[in-house]
Amino acid sequence: MVDMDKIVSLCKRRGFIFQSSEIYGGLGSAWDYGPLGVELKNNVKRLWWRDNVYLRDDMVGLDSAITMHPKVWEASGHLASFADPFTGCTACGRHYRADHLAEAIWSSKWFESLKRRLANEDNAALALQKWAAGDGKKLAPNLALVQRPEVILSLWKDKRSGYRFMQSEFGELLDGIASAPDGTPHNPCPNCGGQMSEPQPASLMLETFLGPVQETATKTYLRPETAQGIFVNFDNVLQASRKKLPFGIAQIGKSFRNEITPGNFTFRTREFEQMEIEFFCMPGTDEEWHQRWVDERFAWYEKYGIQKENIRLREHEKDELAFYAKRCVDVEYLFPMGWSELEGIANRTDYDLKQHSHFSGRALEYFDEDSKQKLIPYVIEPSAGADRSTLSFLVDAYREEEVRGEKRVVLNFHPELAPVKIAVLPLLKKNERIVETARKLTAELRKRWYTVYDDTASIGRLYRRQDEVGTPFCVTVDVQTVGDEKAPADEKVTIRDRNTMQQVRVALSSVEIVIAKLMDGHWDEIYRDSDWAG
Ligand code: GAP
Repeated sequence: MVDMDKIVSLCKRRGFIFQSSEIYGGLGSAWDYGPLGVELKNNVKRLWWRDNVYLRDDMVGLDSAITMHPKVWEASGHLASFADPFTGCTACGRHYRADHLAEAIWSSKWFESLKRRLANEDNAALALQKWAAGDGKKLAPNLALVQRPEVILSLWKDKRSGYRFMQSEFGELLDGIASAPDGTPHNPCPNCGGQMSEPQPASLMLETFLGPVQETATKTYLRPETAQGIFVNFDNVLQASRKKLPFGIAQIGKSFRNEITPGNFTFRTREFEQMEIEFFCMPGTDEEWHQRWVDERFAWYEKYGIQKENIRLREHEKDELAFYAKRCVDVEYLFPMGWSELEGIANRTDYDLKQHSHFSGRALEYFDEDSKQKLIPYVIEPSAGADRSTLSFLVDAYREEEVRGEKRVVLNFHPELAPVKIAVLPLLKKNERIVETARKLTAELRKRWYTVYDDTASIGRLYRRQDEVGTPFCVTVDVQTVGDEKAPADEKVTIRDRNTMQQVRVALSSVEIVIAKLMDGHWDEIYRDSDWAG
């Protein structure tokens, strides 16, 4: 698995993703999509919309506002309980999510170095002593072991001669090396080893004020999920679209959460985009629909190239479920930092429609023609992150290969996801006829696919450049295409496949038909069939 630093560096170098406000030192947790990134993310959103809205009879779209009436958030329960527990370091002031603290300590610089030291020394007390006096001082200056080594080490000498550290003893080791002066164990700070405070809840809602004067302005919130915009529009959409149950409303849009520990590149940020569906169905059919959506959403990621071994489903434990949810299943991806949520598919019952009916005074009901009765539909919610999906497609596509003794970096994107679909490369940029033909071909192909023209390097380098950004097809125009004094024009171009690096010679007049077939995954067929050469 590629490490995240490689992905971050490729993204910056090739214009996929940049740190937000970089020239001012950067704003942690916010990222900007560059020329190729915006194409990739737009493709993710376009395919999600196409597959979930256009290809179904039972779905319509919506684009609701980011700022909503403050009562929405009272009704949804976000104001009362949308919070994560946080803990702060009493020495350096850094904040962490209390429920993510153990992972943060485990992968912190100082703990990594301590693990290495313990692994290389048979005598644990001696290893701790050496570490505290050396790397510990630099990396975790506020850790009890570093500040009061005699006290801590005397405990280890008495109790733990011959001790060998194992991951299962993580908690015990921390208790030993991070106790307060009175001996009470405490959690050490992943940054400096200092003592962490008791966990407290921190609201994830980002406040904002609508109106020119703060005192009289309306305080509201930037939405933390797009879902509520769908629930409050349930009746509008129902009346306007005349849909019958079961049907869904799909929406893509920005959401905002004041995350305590954003990080892992675009995985967890304070501003992000969601792709959400609220699928309304008859009570009693909800469990079946839930399972259908779990299966469909899992298959969607595989359809666009995510490798089987990097994706899995995880059923929520009873104690993880929101109090109103009947069942929830996460689609998880094996990101460089480990298995993490890509999408959640929840059975939200009739909770949200009931809450909004109650708080707004408007009945959000459905009239069932068969039973001639009003009812409140149940809701299945497949909720995906556009940024997380984009990141998973990037990570999954990354390959390093050796070709004729040289390293080749390839982004093996599904053609529909690839930011650039075709690169037209003239072999000689000083040959006017080649340039003219290549320019004309580019202009034609651009009407259907995002096509670039590049003549700024040798053909080998141009291929490598396109491989690195995942362009599935390169089309080369050469002397044979346009002819010269030695031979007449054959009016054919070479199409090269990014993955196999195989090439086919195709008549100029067939390029568009051939590329359309290639986009649908028919390289082998085209490669075997010489008819396309005209
Ligand atoms: N309406 C349900 C809901 O919002 P969620 O599990 O909190 O559920 C759904 O979020 C998806 O939104 C997640 O699976 C993830 O892909 C994305 N997401 C949530 N918080 C995020 C964050 N801070 N940064 C990036 N993506 C996030």
